[in-house]
Amino acid sequence: MISFRTLVKTLVGAPRSLDDEQRAELEWLRQENALLREEVRRKRLPAAPFPSIPRDAGIKGLCELTNPARYLSPDWFALHMDLERYAMDKHCFQTFNGAIYRKGWEWTHCLFGLRELGMLKPDHRAIGVGAGRECVIYYLADHIAHVTATDLYDQADWVDDGGKEASLTLVERSKAHTPATVDFSKITFETRDGTSLGYSDDTFDFAWSLSSIEHFGGHEAALRALREMGRVVKPGGIVAVATELLLLEEHRHPEYFTRSQLMRDLVEPAAAQLELVDDVNFDTLTYEYLADGVVMPAGRDRKRRHVVLNDGDIQWTSIMLFFRKRELRRSP
Ligand SMILES: C[S@@+](CC[C@H](N)C(=O)[O-])C[C@H]1O[C@@H](n2cnc3c(N)ncnc32)[C@H](O)[C@@H]1O
Repeated sequence: MISFRTLVKTLVGAPRSLDDEQRAELEWLRQENALLREEVRRKRLPAAPFPSIPRDAGIKGLCELTNPARYLSPDWFALHMDLERYAMDKHCFQTFNGAIYRKGWEWTHCLFGLRELGMLKPDHRAIGVGAGRECVIYYLADHIAHVTATDLYDQADWVDDGGKEASLTLVERSKAHTPATVDFSKITFETRDGTSLGYSDDTFDFAWSLSSIEHFGGHEAALRALREMGRVVKPGGIVAVATELLLLEEHRHPEYFTRSQLMRDLVEPAAAQLELVDDVNFDTLTYEYLADGVVMPAGRDRKRRHVVLNDGDIQWTSIMLFFRKRELRRSP
């Protein structure tokens, strides 16, 4: 069997020497993927999804890499479908033949974890950091008392890119960013730098931030943002953060994290204030998702298994972490 490491190296690095069995396995995957592509192209899509994932496999705690097994979990999937009602980006909710989209997983898993951790209460108030126009904002407005969505809303980089995550029109015409009917008086949009939020300590019941802190200016800035979220959340509250995880330790990127960098630069320095709610499950990806990543920057095959991304020598996916703010220690 091909190891995770060999597979990643083979797919992103220079050609490696594989034995006959490994070569045959890789070839089978390539053929299977070619067939799948053809089926998708002709829109004759088989109904049975996720061929390699046994039901409930790969589900441990809440902190995890993008996890295709979640789509087979009825509770999680029901939330995913419910969330779609609030989303303009319908392609992120596709599920045919395992061709899932990691942003849909991220948004859903953030809400799923917050719900599991008792955060979706009618009297709760939340802050989103680098929240753009994501559907999570609108879903939350229907489930808690108030949502403060923050972002550098007028920053050209994110206004003009493909996803147009942070257009200024959002603040003025936020109704255009969700097809759902929500009470917009429960949402406040604020232009705030995530590394310096400006709110008082212990203001919100929980905070969330998805695929954003890595873009705030490197690992140090990402840590500042995590600490800021920890500061403005009440003791016992939750901070839910998704960022980009490089799949191999030797991968290098100015913004994304290897597994050891994630621990050394983010989790450990924040530990006095924030503790992970459970151990991180790093073993969620099966062969199909590793072998069938999205090739960047062109984003070819964007509509297929949008779980692992490849760019030159590196390969990455999302990781979702849930932290609980420690209660204040009283002196004896
Ligand atoms: C990849 S987008 C993600 C948007 C949204 N969270 C989502 O998942 O769709 C990154 C976001 O981070 C925002 N951003 C970049 N630097 C920021 C900063 N220093 N403070 C707050 N937001 C920032 C961008 O404007 C953009 O909306």
